[in-house]
Amino acid sequence: MQQLAIEPTFAAWRVAARTALHEHWPPTDLCWEETHSAQGSLFAPSLAGSPAQAGEFRVPRAFVEIARRVACHRAPERWSLLYGILWRLAHGEPHLLQLASDPLVARLTEWDKAVRRDVHKMRAFLRFKAVRRPEGEYWVAWFEPEHLIVEMNAPFFVDRFAQMRWSIFTPDRSAHWNGERLQFTPGASRREAATDDALEDLWRVYYGSIFNPARLKLDAMRAEMPQRYWPNLPEAELIPQLVREAEPRVEAMQQVSAARAPREEFGTPPIPAHPTLPALHEAMQQCRACPIYRDATQAVPGEGPADAKIVLLGEQPGDQEDRQGRPFVGPAGLLLDRALAEAGLERAQCYATNTVKHFKWEPRGKRRLHARASPREIAVCQAWAETELRVIRPRVLVCLGATAAQFVFGRDARIERDRGQLRASAYAPRTLVTTHPSALLRMADEAAKEAAYARFVADLRMAAGALDR
Ligand code: URA
Repeated sequence: MQQLAIEPTFAAWRVAARTALHEHWPPTDLCWEETHSAQGSLFAPSLAGSPAQAGEFRVPRAFVEIARRVACHRAPERWSLLYGILWRLAHGEPHLLQLASDPLVARLTEWDKAVRRDVHKMRAFLRFKAVRRPEGEYWVAWFEPEHLIVEMNAPFFVDRFAQMRWSIFTPDRSAHWNGERLQFTPGASRREAATDDALEDLWRVYYGSIFNPARLKLDAMRAEMPQRYWPNLPEAELIPQLVREAEPRVEAMQQVSAARAPREEFGTPPIPAHPTLPALHEAMQQCRACPIYRDATQAVPGEGPADAKIVLLGEQPGDQEDRQGRPFVGPAGLLLDRALAEAGLERAQCYATNTVKHFKWEPRGKRRLHARASPREIAVCQAWAETELRVIRPRVLVCLGATAAQFVFGRDARIERDRGQLRASAYAPRTLVTTHPSALLRMADEAAKEAAYARFVADLRMAAGALDR
């Protein structure tokens, strides 16, 4: 029996599993153990240099995604489960994950669901409280996740609360954001979380305002908001009153919405259940979820390698992009290519895409002039870019212009205020906001244009630097 002692992280498991696969060690001969040694994995020294040799077998991307999550499950047997599946994928069962009835696959799916549910619960039920520190206001939260999800979930909170300084304490691990860097320390005890309840009223107001009576499903609510989270939830006591008022509020909402019914029907983009880039690109052509498609020639999918380390996210295709079906091939694209080259990046190494997939335009004589997509059109369409980003999982994301920046960082994002910083977002550990090349093309003053272009190149250089780190 071969004993593998690894640090309980996906990265450590991956190194060990690749080598075990390379050495042809069957799952039945392996005993996985977790070590919390400060020196790192006991096993790792003998693995140094070997993962590259194991590259003969390409792991399906879907498995990597699931394995990353299942690695956060609390069960110590997760490592052997993952290796058991990996072994079979590599030994004549490439479609194993589609066999839902297979006991290993069923357990993998169940654990994946449990982790995803836990991630969702942490996002929904974690509450920060303000505490005074000598250096100013600081926010702390206490949470008890069922699984080991703090590191996986922390970028979400960085994204949502980027302007605050905060700590999230849990019994297993704690995350800290100082406005610039995300750090992790060992678990904490409840006492370390704040006791100051001054913000609880604010949470009640917030909850009352986001509560949608039309969506009231009592059973689902009880299932979603288990009692164990209630001590952290000041708004929980509002529920009986909100429930009582729900019916009259729904009626009122129905009357208002009938009066304001939009002329255009909006739907849901046909995102494939198991998205890959080719599947997404194909499905995008069928999208009728908002009215823009009617006047466009075609949807314009992203372009670039599926394993690109860097994604460039623009606003929407222009006239040339609409005709050719490719992003950034018009004047803005040419300028972008030039700036990328000056920043030391090749366009071919980037995946370039847009927040909105169809060209929206207005006639001006014989020309088709770019028209801004409405907030609703953007909101409906962004499911495509979101899925592209989740499939690619870039290391660096560059938001070109306000539409892309607001999609990633929310409505408050501002180019001039936020540019020049690398921040974690929901889509990439390093996300940078910069100007859109079209904005440079529109500038009339040559000197100002040159200066703006230099800043644009400097931003792209920062993105290139983040790739190397
Ligand atoms: N502008 C964009 O935002 N995207 C393109 O593809 C072209 C111009």
